[in-house]
Amino acid sequence: MEPLQFTSEIRGLAALRIFFGFYNNPILTSSNILDKHGNAVSIAIPFFGKKTPPDAIIFYGAENNRKVYAKWDDLRMTALWPISAKPNTAQQKIRHNYMCLSGKPHRDIAVQIEAPLNRTQITKLSVEMHAVIKPVIDKVFTQDTFDLVKFHKDLSIQCALNLLFGERNAERALHIGHLVDRLNLSNYLISNRILKYNIPGLPFHRLLRQAEDVRDTLMGWIKEAAGQPANTNLRTSVLNMADADGQVFSFDFKIGCLGTLVWAAIDTPSLGALWTTILLSRNPETAAKLHDELKAAGFSKKTSTEELNNLPYLNGVVLESLRLSPPATFIPLKSVRETSIGSIKVPANTAIYLCPRETQRDPTVYPDPEMFRPERWDAKTAPDAYEFIAFSGGVRRCPGATFATIYIKMVIAMLVERGGLELLTRESIAVRSVPTMEPLKPVFARPSASGQFC
Ligand code: HEM
Repeated sequence: MEPLQFTSEIRGLAALRIFFGFYNNPILTSSNILDKHGNAVSIAIPFFGKKTPPDAIIFYGAENNRKVYAKWDDLRMTALWPISAKPNTAQQKIRHNYMCLSGKPHRDIAVQIEAPLNRTQITKLSVEMHAVIKPVIDKVFTQDTFDLVKFHKDLSIQCALNLLFGERNAERALHIGHLVDRLNLSNYLISNRILKYNIPGLPFHRLLRQAEDVRDTLMGWIKEAAGQPANTNLRTSVLNMADADGQVFSFDFKIGCLGTLVWAAIDTPSLGALWTTILLSRNPETAAKLHDELKAAGFSKKTSTEELNNLPYLNGVVLESLRLSPPATFIPLKSVRETSIGSIKVPANTAIYLCPRETQRDPTVYPDPEMFRPERWDAKTAPDAYEFIAFSGGVRRCPGATFATIYIKMVIAMLVERGGLELLTRESIAVRSVPTMEPLKPVFARPSASGQFC
């Protein structure tokens, strides 16, 4: 096999354009880089960059993913709440959480707090999940026109906070979910990266207040879980976590873990369900086939997760949606020490981006890659770990993948059963990277008059 080398090294204005392009037009920027510069691109960013370039490396394709994942112990994730602030501010304190660690220290914590996400726990949830989703879907079917983005966000907040964090009050779940979501959005405002001044009126001042609000709210929320057994849900597992030597972590560290878990649990599932809804509306024949499969299987509130997973067309629809529109356009990582990937030397603190969207449109792996074709998954039992990286891969593969997949299947099956939706926003949908692929503007829909997605 060829040793991995840079296919292009980009500096100066072109590098700056890519830096801003990642925020403003992640899809176009990502596909342009691959088309023009190849599958292993080094970027040296003027003004903001490090002394020893490259500042960032962008990798595409299964082979490169394999080489990056082989180096997990030298890497960490960076995606959440990237904007630094002065020590002792809430923003700075809650940024630090276990996801920023790598190697053994990361794994020691991950196994403790992610226990409620394991397959056995999640497969028990189908009846409860149906019960949480049903009233939200019933309500939307009484409306004329609604914003599909907000509908999916609210639904995923209520479902995840109830089932994964034990928050039974829907109003409260929405309050906490939106607080966390707004803080995340502020962390992806480019102005907050550049104008980091705590002056009233500036967005950075607002970001600092939002971080205080998140910290205070989550502090009260986690304390309510005191006395409950560990691992009944993610809130109790964070509260009770202890390191290998029995040391108790600081509350700020726990709040950081809880906040990033809340964000991870609400954002990508809502986007996964959103893009699946949009793809079905744009492919009514696929939606009709799905409707037939669910009808033949007698889908109902009693359908268990095992039964849901045994519906091959539904499975194909969800995988195909995550292939074409993975909620994370990029997977942003950072080297924690000097390392090498293939024959490429990677200095410490270099940003490394993997690109699920482009990787999953490789025509040598997925013929007619732009087509939404659930049937392509008929012959595959499971996606290849390096060709399909919507949930990332290796030891840091998303621990919420089982929950998220069941959630999207359940929401889509219930929308189909309830009569489908008609997409009113027909033009192409502009997105921003926050760091997931979120529509810039509302996307309008209404209950379908034909009884099918259209
Ligand atoms: C369709 C839904 C989802 C998608 C597409 C998705 C995707 C991903 C990806 C790409 C990563 C790697 C991020 C990076 O390294 O920068 C990740 C990590 C993670 N995800 Fe998910 N995710 C989803 C749902 C969930 C859910 C429901 C949870 C529940 C809490 C969750 C929890 C996590 C956590 C804790 C990590 C970090 C793991 C670590 O420590 O490295 N995710 N996810």
